[in-house]
Amino acid sequence: EADILIATGIAAAVPTALAGAADWSEGEIGQQRVGAVHAVLNSAALVLYAGSLVARARGSRARGRGLAYAALGLASSSAGIGGHLAYHQAAGASHAATAARTLSHDWIDLGPLDDLPDGRPVLRVSDDSDRPASLCVIRRGDQAHVLVDSCSHLGGPLHQGKLTDVGGKQCLVCPWHGGTFVLADGHAVRGPAVASATVLQTRVAGGRLQAKVPERHDV
Ligand code: FES
Repeated sequence: EADILIATGIAAAVPTALAGAADWSEGEIGQQRVGAVHAVLNSAALVLYAGSLVARARGSRARGRGLAYAALGLASSSAGIGGHLAYHQAAGASHAATAARTLSHDWIDLGPLDDLPDGRPVLRVSDDSDRPASLCVIRRGDQAHVLVDSCSHLGGPLHQGKLTDVGGKQCLVCPWHGGTFVLADGHAVRGPAVASATVLQTRVAGGRLQAKVPERHDV
C-alpha cells in the first residue's frame, strides 16, 4: 500500500510543480527567491521518494522506509516555506499585486496637483481606457503618494481610509479591517494585511501629478 501511495504522490507532483512554476513566473523578486528554495526542496524530496520506490521494488523495505522518512522531512520543511510564500508574501493572494498587474507601465496622468486636497486620501481613476486604474492619491504639500486603491488584504478601498502616524511614519489605515500601510513604501505595519500595499512612483510635470507602477517590486 505504501508503494501505491508513494507512486501516486510522485505522479501528482508533476501537475503541482507545473502550477507552481506558472505562479513562480508571475511572482515578485522576493517571492521568486523563496519559491526557488521551495522548488529545490520539493525536487529533492521527489528524488528521495523515487529512490524509496526503487528500493522497495528491489525488496529493500528498510532502505525504502529510510528514504521515505528523509523525503517526508524535506517535504515538511518545504511545505512550511510554501506556507510563508502563500501567507506572508501573499503569492497569488495579494489584491494589491493583482490589481497592479493590470496597470499600464507608462506614466499615468492624474491631473493638476493643485486640484487635490491636501492631507486627505482621494480616489483617482486613470483615463487610460484600455487599462483603467483605481488609485488612492494622498497629496502632501507639493508632493503626493499614490497607491493602488485595492487593499492587499481583501481589496478594501484605501481612499476611504484614514491617515495615521505609526512610529513616526505616515500611514494609511484600510477602512475595512484596519490593515495599516506606510505611505512611503507600502509596508504593512498592522494586520490583518500582511502583503504590502503597492506604491507607485510619482512625479510632477508641468503642475500635473503623474504616477507609474514600478517594473518589479520586491516584497
Ligand atoms: S481589506 Fe483592507 S484590511 Fe482587510
